[in-house]
Amino acid sequence: MTTSSNPPNSVTPDQTSGMWGGRFSEATDAFVAEFTASVQFDQRFYKQDIAGSIAHATMLAKVGVLTEAERDDIIEGLSTIRSEIEAGNFEWRIDLEDVHMNIESRLTQRIGITGKKLHTGRSRNDQVATDIRLYLRDEIDDILKLLERLQKGLLGLATKNVNTIMPGFTHLQTAQPVTFGHHLLAWFEMLVRDTERLQDCRKRVNRMPLGSAALAGTTYPIDRAYTAELLGFEAVSENSLDAVSDRDFAIEFNAAAALIMMHLSRMSEELILWTSAQFKFVNIPDRFCTGSSIMPQKKNPDVPELIRGKSGRVFGDLISLLTLMKGQPLAYNKDNQEDKEPLFDAIDTVRGSLMAFADMIPALVPNIEIMREAALRGFSTATDLADYLVKKGVAFRDAHEIVGKAVALGVAEEKDLSELTLEQLQQFSDLITADVFDKALTLEASVNARDHIGGTSPKQVEAAIARAHTRLEQLYA
Ligand code: ARG
Repeated sequence: MTTSSNPPNSVTPDQTSGMWGGRFSEATDAFVAEFTASVQFDQRFYKQDIAGSIAHATMLAKVGVLTEAERDDIIEGLSTIRSEIEAGNFEWRIDLEDVHMNIESRLTQRIGITGKKLHTGRSRNDQVATDIRLYLRDEIDDILKLLERLQKGLLGLATKNVNTIMPGFTHLQTAQPVTFGHHLLAWFEMLVRDTERLQDCRKRVNRMPLGSAALAGTTYPIDRAYTAELLGFEAVSENSLDAVSDRDFAIEFNAAAALIMMHLSRMSEELILWTSAQFKFVNIPDRFCTGSSIMPQKKNPDVPELIRGKSGRVFGDLISLLTLMKGQPLAYNKDNQEDKEPLFDAIDTVRGSLMAFADMIPALVPNIEIMREAALRGFSTATDLADYLVKKGVAFRDAHEIVGKAVALGVAEEKDLSELTLEQLQQFSDLITADVFDKALTLEASVNARDHIGGTSPKQVEAAIARAHTRLEQLYA
């Protein structure tokens, strides 16, 4: 395989002549040939390139531009080339610039003059736009499967932790008790939106540019709807100039990928905090961690840390594509060749990160007792005491003031509100009676009381999990 690490020393006029040599009087400079080539990275979608060519040839035969025998030769030749590539027996040549010309040149080598007819009524401009869409469509489908696996993992862990109580935070300060199941369902919701976004993006990916040719369309009596049907496209593009130059679909994908990474990064950040010696809320099994070469005690949450770090490159990939497109006049410009690496990088990074999360989430082990103890610290049921007073007729602002004073006493005595005596509490309001402990101050009372759709009570979390399973079925139907 010829790659960038093994550049050709020269490109003979003979080598270029097959593709565009007619107009040229000297060979492409060897450095320029390598500099302008994309085969090093676009060979990744050889399968889609071949599928697109087979559909194109099939259509050309249907409309009488190719004979059936020519079509059959082309299809057989391309299928053999696909096998050669898959067996590692294909020589990728930098001098042939890209995946398209490598495959076409090999086809002509194999089947002779008929190979030279494949490109009738087509340009690499509509060919590459079609290939990337086919490729991205497949990748989106794989990423959706990973998302589904992760979402199911979250539901599984949430099911086991419907009753697990932990502190909920605002400003990273203890706020109110929540259930761990509820927290996991918050992550689940982020990922559901990610799924919706990808599915929506896929609709616009799934339009066929082929037939736009270089920019204006083609003089042959092509049947675009037929080619689209062969390739599983939902529709054909409406405007040839737009179709060869549009990369919105890749930008949309990268934006969706950036959001996925942002979500995974937030989850990672929480896992990193929770696995620290200061929190100890959760244990990540050893197989997802590494140690330190100097500190024998260390067990580092490398997977979440790395994913938090990798989010940066995917954000960068999005900005690369936006910047790539912003100055381009219609229609195709060579700039567009730079669309591939940021797109591939985003795809690879999201895939890897989702795979790691999908494996890791079901393996997490919560430290239920430690979470509970943490929820008992920080006066997490103070709002509940205020609500208790409101239900006895106190205006909320006054209740807030009363509880504030009770908390101040708790701070001074180093006691939680539930550890103060009834007499102590009654100093602040004689409306406080013995039922305050069961009705307001215990962790269970606090979470159970938030008993409405979207609330943290175990009953609601259980119902939310049941709905989530149905939603997943609908989402991935
Ligand atoms: N390798 C090129 C790309 O990735 C294919 C299209 C080339 N078209 C052209 N007019 N030079 O964009």
